[in-house]
Amino acid sequence: MGKSYPTVSEEYKKAVEKCKKKLRGLIAGKNCAPLMLRIAFHSAGTYDVKTKTGGPFGTIKHAAELAHGENNGIDIAVRLLEPIKEQFPILFYADFYQLAGVVAVEITGGPEIPFHPGREDKPEPPPEGRLPDATKGSDHLRDVFGHMGLSDQDIVALSGGHTLGRCHKERSGFEGPWTVNPLIFDNSYFKELLTGDKEGLLQLPSDKTLLTDPVFRPLVEKYAADEDAFFADYAEAHLKLSELGFADA
Ligand code: HEM
Repeated sequence: MGKSYPTVSEEYKKAVEKCKKKLRGLIAGKNCAPLMLRIAFHSAGTYDVKTKTGGPFGTIKHAAELAHGENNGIDIAVRLLEPIKEQFPILFYADFYQLAGVVAVEITGGPEIPFHPGREDKPEPPPEGRLPDATKGSDHLRDVFGHMGLSDQDIVALSGGHTLGRCHKERSGFEGPWTVNPLIFDNSYFKELLTGDKEGLLQLPSDKTLLTDPVFRPLVEKYAADEDAFFADYAEAHLKLSELGFADA
């Protein structure tokens, strides 16, 4: 499936560049990269390749979508981002939330992810229940990410997003970070996963399932051993995620 990116005006392009700078300032100042990556994922990850519904089209700002159980805490991201969005009325929320995700990865030392503007906001939030459930195993991950049109390799690479941030009891029922440096984007998620349970760190059932699946496990081992390989596959998978349903030829 090829991508045919829309042309946006010079004014729009300039706003994207300026907004990127403002996002760097906000994310560095508030140490909120993890939440910004999570909103980008939850915004895009509702895409359903068959019905072409859901996806990164700005609907996550609506109260109806924020009320989905899996989006607990995402309202904080929407609120933190709003003062910046107000400075760039020309930008679509659809682009803006994906730009925040790309900047979050960049500013914490992760790979550069190309950003193509031109996603337009859609009025209709997707139905609840399209995002992954942390208590489930590899069949569920394949089912959920398969609906997005993403591959086994994408699942493992994107799971490495948990190198950032933590779980909050009051948001998800789980508590604790995956790595000792939750504000650094590196391959430590995979190293910790292979090390096993450790005092103070957490692994969700959906993380642990990567170790028992015969296709997922070799990728975990590869990414733990080779950060460059992880960064390359992560950047590719994140780009796909951020462009689900966008500019499909
Ligand atoms: C593979 C299936 C996934 C499951 C089951 C899952 C589940 C979860 C859960 C339960 C939390 C904790 C929320 C909280 O309590 O605050 C969380 C946080 C997070 N997730 Fe995922 N997630 C998955 C995939 C991803 C992907 C693909 C990304 C991005 C590439 C991602 C990025 C994050 C980040 C950055 C946080 C930390 C947020 C914070 O610190 O506030 N997750 N995830």
